[in-house]
Amino acid sequence: MAKWFNAGLIIATVAFASCSEAQHETSATMGTTKKDWGEVDGKQVYLYTLTNKAGDVVTISNYGGTITSWISPDKNGNKSSIIIGFDSLSTYRQNPPYFGALVGRYGNRIGKAQFTLNGTTYKLAANNGPNSLHGGIKGFDKVVWDATVPDSTQPSITLKYLSKDGEEGYPGNLDVTVVYTLSDDDGLKIEYTATTDKATPVNLTNHSYFNLTGSVKNKILDHYLQIDADRYTPVDPTLIPTGELKAVKGTPFDFTTAKKIGQDFSAVPGGYDHNFVLNRKDSSLQKVATLSDSVSGRTLEVYTTEPGLQFYTGNFLDGKFTNHDGNPLLVNTALCMETQHFPDSPNKPDFPSTILEPGQTYHSITEYKLSVK
Ligand code: GLA
Repeated sequence: MAKWFNAGLIIATVAFASCSEAQHETSATMGTTKKDWGEVDGKQVYLYTLTNKAGDVVTISNYGGTITSWISPDKNGNKSSIIIGFDSLSTYRQNPPYFGALVGRYGNRIGKAQFTLNGTTYKLAANNGPNSLHGGIKGFDKVVWDATVPDSTQPSITLKYLSKDGEEGYPGNLDVTVVYTLSDDDGLKIEYTATTDKATPVNLTNHSYFNLTGSVKNKILDHYLQIDADRYTPVDPTLIPTGELKAVKGTPFDFTTAKKIGQDFSAVPGGYDHNFVLNRKDSSLQKVATLSDSVSGRTLEVYTTEPGLQFYTGNFLDGKFTNHDGNPLLVNTALCMETQHFPDSPNKPDFPSTILEPGQTYHSITEYKLSVK
């Protein structure tokens, strides 16, 4: 306990820290600290700082459960954030495209913004052309979660949110818990659990955008990526899967061995924004992707229990927002690797089911593991 901040001590330490310098001092110590970050919907918003033994620092807000930065040293010891984000809550309130956010109740798209379950058709908001994207108009990325700091041996926060029956058109009161934990070997683990009182689709993910160089002056097209997926789900012009599970072999979607993202990029109109069908025999936590960059020497491995990975190359980034490093977020300056069930599963009976029944517990784990050499 000696070097450790427990929840009570954190509040005592930070509640009286009125200037950012004081907060930087507290954040340099291993553990979890928090500071006031504003107010949304009459609820207090905080920014939590998780610092591990290695000195990596991850900041997460209970607004949208958003990871706002992950600061780590590159191969030369220079520290920068590998996750895109901003320093102020007001920028997140301008609805950036899900930077770092928790996404739910249904990550990615549901076709024609509707699905039928047990004979009832549920209508959702069409917030992306004819489709529903990332949980609707006010998804889990735009709500204030209840946060607590667990009495854990590792820097961690627990977020809870009750999504009410009928919220954004979905059936059932869905009780969601998300635990973020930063390990000493630079693994950022996200553990999701949920229960419901009516059958409902659930597909939770985190929408962090990465640029391993730490500067969005560098496009991510020079990063190398390997994805353990022999198949992907081709999409229609509105980005809804056609239902086919297509072999990646001989296509630009073949990342089975590490490949420069830019290598076949011009052969993918609009850029990569596709769900990869991960090779797996069961739902154990397994390594599914490896991203690396020679400029920084950083490597990021993705582990998950999920069957799919949405690889998105920031095709819609248009320079409207400016990253921590002061540079505009232009097209292809960051990428996402969103672990998930496949898009539009509620309308695709052949895809792995996303339906959570009363009495069942939704449980999903994803870990992003960073190293440098
Ligand atoms: C996901 C989608 C993309 C885009 C982004 C957010 O990755 O697949 O099409 O909507 O979210 O901009």
